Amino acid sequence: QTGVVRRITCVGAGYVGGPTCAMIANKCPHITVTVVDMNTLKIEEWNSEKLPIFEPGLEEIVKRCRGKNLFFSSDIPKSIREADLIFISVNTPTKMYGKGKGMAPDLKYVESVARNIAEHAGGPKIVVEKSTVPVKAAESILSILRDAQRTNHNLAFQVLSNPEFLAEGTAMGDLANPDRVLIGGENSEEGKKAVAALVEVYSSWVARERIITTNTWSSELSKLVANAFLAQRISSINSISAICEATGADVSEVAHAVGFDSRIGNKFLNASVGFGGSCFQKDVLSLVYLCESLHLNKVAEYWHGVIEINNWQRRRFADQIIAELFNTVAGKKIAILGFAFKKNTGDTRESSAIHVCGHLMEEEARLAIYDPKVEEKQMRIELASETSKDRVEKLVSVFSDPYEAAKDAHAIVVLTEWDEFKTYDYSRIYGSMVHPAALFDGRLLFKRKEMESLGFRFFGIGSAPNHVTKVGFAASS
Ligand code: NAI
Repeated sequence: QTGVVRRITCVGAGYVGGPTCAMIANKCPHITVTVVDMNTLKIEEWNSEKLPIFEPGLEEIVKRCRGKNLFFSSDIPKSIREADLIFISVNTPTKMYGKGKGMAPDLKYVESVARNIAEHAGGPKIVVEKSTVPVKAAESILSILRDAQRTNHNLAFQVLSNPEFLAEGTAMGDLANPDRVLIGGENSEEGKKAVAALVEVYSSWVARERIITTNTWSSELSKLVANAFLAQRISSINSISAICEATGADVSEVAHAVGFDSRIGNKFLNASVGFGGSCFQKDVLSLVYLCESLHLNKVAEYWHGVIEINNWQRRRFADQIIAELFNTVAGKKIAILGFAFKKNTGDTRESSAIHVCGHLMEEEARLAIYDPKVEEKQMRIELASETSKDRVEKLVSVFSDPYEAAKDAHAIVVLTEWDEFKTYDYSRIYGSMVHPAALFDGRLLFKRKEMESLGFRFFGIGSAPNHVTKVGFAASS
């Protein structure tokens, strides 16, 4: 093993592989980076004018580096053979079959990459798990690779864990200035050498004190724990939002006051219609599954609560919409603003919008959806898997103009926090709707007073509508 990385191959050209490798190529002109994927269409898109994913700042970097030291290829065996270091950045979704169904992460893609590396490596490689995996996944990868080593003595492998912490929507900034880079490896001479080689790559642009090295299992577990803590903060504040709605407290004021405590901090304390995205739910479930496998049932229950609150919050919001529209939404047009799981991404995986729309469709509401980035086809696929294709045909229309979506609607429901939603002419929108017109703010984008003064019946997560009687103690005399 040389210890110096000149050629990197990344298997998996998705939301992690694409942006991460673009950043490495951008910051390390001395390294040739090739991103491969079994999805040849995706590779064609990475090589085209329209990239397969939207991420602010990504296109500029890809266009600058592509063809120089950044390549997208479908030739997986060749790229594996030529690399010094191979990132595994394939998807690890929740398993939808067999043992661990609905809980455990599906590691079949990771395993198939390991087998591919074993077959095509030809020489020594550093193999890096970038995908989020359960603790000890590196051991399974290593077993497959070491087995190949028995029959081919030219082979030598080190497996490192280097989980990715980027957040969609801010991925390029997160990659350029990471809070930390985490690298886990074996505590052997060869292991340390491999860790040092990857540290060297990141040191091109990340301060050394921000690069943390640990043992492999700590690194694997830290990623799951980081996502579990982040998701837990959202569920914590969302659980409080329900108390606020019932008492007259305002969740934004509570979050502000609580967040001032430096031990708590003010980030990730926004109440909302719940978290989405490809990672939080699957990673918390993966942690719960791990706890169950270790017979740590109390711990499993504790973390499962985070998911339960999230599902409950989505349902609660949909139920409130139905209740406030006089207990029937059948046949009513409801404008949905936002379908992506968060702003600045077109990603819809596990978006709360899917669930809220699904609940409204159970009640036969007619949905008029607008999102600045999500394509109509994608919305229809997601909603069909939540309900059925026929139901989607019957109840869903997709608009490219938010004003058209809101016209003749009984209510507007805000499900993604896109900045542009704050800039619309709501007086005009109100005038075009069926009255009384309601606005349900699932992302706390609006001020109640302003919207009420325009005429809207306004419902924001975590604060009581003015007509609701608050519970309280009777004054004692
Ligand atoms: P993705 O689904 O966007 O991309 C994965 C890609 O891997 C797909 O294009 C798929 O075709 C390809 N692939 C699967 N098996 C393959 C194989 N055997 N050979 C070649 N290509 C193969 O997934 P994403 O979002 O990039 O996530 C990848 C990993 O990173 C997951 O483990 C995820 O949990 C983790 N992660 C994701 C983050 C995110 O914001 N999306 C952030 C941090 C970690």
